[in-house]
Amino acid sequence: MNNFHKTKKSAAVLKHAILDQYATPFASKTGKWSLDNRVAFIDGYAGPGRYEDGKEGSGAMLLRKAQEMAAFPRRIECHFVEADPKTAARLRAVAAAEGAGVEYTIDDDDISTHLPRLLKSAEDIPLFTYLDPCGLILPLDEVASIFERPGGYGAPATEVLINLTAHLRRFAGMLYSDKPVEASLKRMDAVCGGDWWRETWLKECPTNASEEEKMAAERAVVAGYARNLRERAGGAGTWIIDVRPRADLKPVYYLIFATRHMDGMVTFGESVSLGLQAWRKYHAEIAAEGTLFSDTGAWEADWKKQEDTLKAQWIDTLADRLTDELAKGEPFRIIDRPSVLSGLAGAARTLHFRAAIKKVLAAGKTTTNPQGVNDLWNLTIKPA
Ligand SMILES: C[S@@+](CC[C@H](N)C(=O)[O-])C[C@H]1O[C@@H](n2cnc3c(N)ncnc32)[C@H](O)[C@@H]1O
Repeated sequence: MNNFHKTKKSAAVLKHAILDQYATPFASKTGKWSLDNRVAFIDGYAGPGRYEDGKEGSGAMLLRKAQEMAAFPRRIECHFVEADPKTAARLRAVAAAEGAGVEYTIDDDDISTHLPRLLKSAEDIPLFTYLDPCGLILPLDEVASIFERPGGYGAPATEVLINLTAHLRRFAGMLYSDKPVEASLKRMDAVCGGDWWRETWLKECPTNASEEEKMAAERAVVAGYARNLRERAGGAGTWIIDVRPRADLKPVYYLIFATRHMDGMVTFGESVSLGLQAWRKYHAEIAAEGTLFSDTGAWEADWKKQEDTLKAQWIDTLADRLTDELAKGEPFRIIDRPSVLSGLAGAARTLHFRAAIKKVLAAGKTTTNPQGVNDLWNLTIKPA
């Protein structure tokens, strides 16, 4: 396989790993009390379901989730929209072969055409919408409409995961042209919910010359997009994950997750942490390809060692920060101290927090024992 394809694949590994990690807790938690335990997933840019090499795409994955969770019981309803008829035909074949017993719909058309109807069909039940285009995503007005469900904050859980592609650069490139194609810029305005992105981009990247400035501009627009979405969704919380093929390469796309519930934020953070772990493992394996390491499987032992080092660093950092907070002499909750998490959100997860609190307990700095506590974010940590 050439590098280009490896790179593309590796980027997809992360988004699929995160979706795989998150779909189950979402359906499990939100479907516990929902009408007939129903939960809906909309996959707005669905793709073929399964790739030519047999790997699961989002389609096969969501159908599998629906089957796995049927016994809980959770009634997962999957709605797929795929504009390309040939790709939709492949998805139909995957669904026919793998979707026995699952309630699903497949529409081959533009997501914009079907979204209002699908939102209506899922009006009374928890809804997770995955929007993963290969080009520009649908306008912000339409993304925001997902959150405009009857019941406002009292509505069943409503969350979206968006792939905001790095196509942004191509459109932003026109901002430097003498003859920009205004229609293209306007498309981007619609995606972003206004023309604010033009000024934001140019402020960070005035000359289009430096790679660093382009990265900063991209980040600023992505952050602005998330802010707009939060506002339009009536005060949701968002996570932004930049997806890089390798840690030293620039992001190929950004995932933005939005939810109205703290529990959604926390659970998604756990899923990102596990997704990143799967992604590091994938990289360790391909880095070893064709070497002796690969034949003997020694890469896996090496990868585990690297993971142990990484985790020990997170635990030490967290323990140091908790110790500093405790030195102020007041009890506190981690959720109220974002600085404890700084730079580690989405990397470290509950497992590492527990180890860090235990370390601080063993050092005699706190009286709080995290043993058996599930929600460490809200646990009050008391100075000794
Ligand atoms: C990146 S791929 C999807 C990958 C898939 N979600 C996954 O995770 O395995 C994007 C898909 O969106 C489809 N598409 C593009 N524009 C669309 C639109 N306006 N409405 C629905 N599907 C669209 C493309 O044909 C393509 O198959």
